[in-house]
Amino acid sequence: MFRRLDTPLSEITIFWEDRPLTAYQGELVASVLLRHGISITHHGPTTGSRGPYCMMGVCFDCLVDVDNRKAIQSCQLVAKDGLRLNRHLNLAGTGHPNDA
Ligand code: FES
Repeated sequence: MFRRLDTPLSEITIFWEDRPLTAYQGELVASVLLRHGISITHHGPTTGSRGPYCMMGVCFDCLVDVDNRKAIQSCQLVAKDGLRLNRHLNLAGTGHPNDA
């Protein structure tokens, strides 16, 4: 469904729930996830399953956990080699971004 239109730069590897994904230097994490068919990036008790939507930092539907940081907007995060990502689980909050 999603593919790059330009000539990719150097190839790197990031990890989604321990699964290696090919990415390109400078690519946004949300783009990498969507290109690999991963459209659900977080769950909340009131919001249910969510994934990248606006791709410009507004909707907060693209939250992921990155290394030791929680609830990071994947559409605002540049992929770096070896980055380890996990689905963000917001089990206690209301699902609103401010609860993340
Ligand atoms: S996709 Fe909307 S904030 Fe990231």
